[in-house]
Amino acid sequence: MTVRRAVGSTTRTTQYTSIMSRHPARTLLLISGSTRRGSVNSSALATAASTLPEGWQATTCSALADLPHFTPDLDGEAIPGSVRDLRTAVRAADALLFSTPEYAGTLPGALKNLLEWTIGDTVMTGKPVAWLNCSTAPGRAAGTYRTLRTVLTYTAARVVEDACLDVPVERRLIGADGVVTDADVRHRIGTSVRALTTAATRTRP
Ligand SMILES: Cc1cc2nc3c(=O)[nH]c(=O)nc-3n(C[C@H](O)[C@H](O)[C@H](O)COP(=O)(O)O)c2cc1C
Repeated sequence: MTVRRAVGSTTRTTQYTSIMSRHPARTLLLISGSTRRGSVNSSALATAASTLPEGWQATTCSALADLPHFTPDLDGEAIPGSVRDLRTAVRAADALLFSTPEYAGTLPGALKNLLEWTIGDTVMTGKPVAWLNCSTAPGRAAGTYRTLRTVLTYTAARVVEDACLDVPVERRLIGADGVVTDADVRHRIGTSVRALTTAATRTRP
């Protein structure tokens, strides 16, 4: 799986394995539920990456569009490479941060599919997880985050409640580099990241 690493304001695309051997810091895995170019949710996560505390690095999961549809028939010894890489990335992560759009009142199918692939291998068990809900829609994408919580419960991840944040992000607040420029929004996203990384550090000092 190709992942984009973000440390401070620098991002680049590289291979997951080489990141881990050269950068033994704690890792926050960022998972966006949108594959859309210019995605607001992906920008919220890129912003989160730019607020990471010392000793943390972020990897952006780009597996969403590559994964096959989940079927137990493929979940045997010869699992697809994209699934193996996803599970490796989740296993290696100290915490996971999600941000996702709502599609038709619920979680995008691609994100549900990704999460289904994590269940069989118990890679999510006990992982500290949180989300940034950056919806500006009247319903605040309540359906998608209700479903995300339900599915994460089935994965046995540990939801860090005080890191889960409603932070509306208007497109006009996103800079050309895909990161939110607004100081208040950045501060609020940073608060979520701090709560999540602190919880993860307590889990594995
Ligand atoms: C097929 C489709 C269905 C959608 N359904 C909903 C919905 O049920 N509720 C909602 O608030 N927004 C809905 N939206 C709007 C998206 O959630 C919204 O544009 C979101 O900001 C897209 O996120 P992104 O910029 O990260 O791709 C829908 C969009 C599409 C394309």
